[in-house]
Amino acid sequence: MLKNLVQFLRGAAGDKEPTLQEQELMKQVDMNKIPVHIAIIMDGNGRWATKRGLPRGVGHRAGVESLREAVNTYSRLGVNYLTVYAFSTENWKRPQEEVNILMDLLVEYLHKEIDELHRKNVFVNALGRLEDLPVKAQEALNMARRITAGNNGLTLNICLNYGGRTEITEAFRAISVKLLEGQIKINDINENLISEHLYTSSIPDPDLLIRPAGELRVSNFLLWQLAYTEFWLTTMMWPDFRRQHLLKAVIDWQRRNRRFGGI
Ligand code: FPP
Repeated sequence: MLKNLVQFLRGAAGDKEPTLQEQELMKQVDMNKIPVHIAIIMDGNGRWATKRGLPRGVGHRAGVESLREAVNTYSRLGVNYLTVYAFSTENWKRPQEEVNILMDLLVEYLHKEIDELHRKNVFVNALGRLEDLPVKAQEALNMARRITAGNNGLTLNICLNYGGRTEITEAFRAISVKLLEGQIKINDINENLISEHLYTSSIPDPDLLIRPAGELRVSNFLLWQLAYTEFWLTTMMWPDFRRQHLLKAVIDWQRRNRRFGGI
């Protein structure tokens, strides 16, 4: 058991030796009850950097390290979907320089990590109004999707130019067109049909949402899909997230009693 555990943790963090604390945490994870879908709002990069007297871009770069750790840990754990909020429809309001840094980091991440992601059987996907992203970002995403298309391990959904309200509005439009063209009738409109018209069609709703940086709001993220999701909130900043915190969120989730409105 301990050998497997150590192997698991090594695999999940490249070549880093698992700490004793991580080994202890791993023993607490119920491998028969792994969340199918985990969503993360990768918040606090800016504050993390500012606190250290560093430019905000350094915080975003540190956030990419945490993302790498999340992909490694959760793909090893057998999570099927990891959906991360990387750039919202509102983030265009940030100074152009910061927007450029975020887009450049995305392109750099995809080019640098694609072989490793492919080796780990990860399918890289993107959700949002992708057509409004800079061409180089769209090209990098297409490249990543093409290379990893046949992978059936973890699906990494990177939400970019994503807004929950925009997503629902686009679904309304698509459904209205079908209604007007007579492809569907008014009674065909139900929760399943709406879900099928979201960016996340065919993906089950998240079981667990991780929200760092002490914020207590959903910030226009997965508004429809989070209806019964369990939230794991912490004041820790996203760049500080490491394997132990990612495991702790899952352990806490496993101890919760999800009733979906029942008793
Ligand atoms: C929120 O922190 C974070 C973002 C808006 C960007 C998240 C992006 C990354 C982690 C890196 C780039 C992504 C990929 C997929 C390579 P904030 O800037 O709002 O932090 P603050 O609230 O402390 O200011």
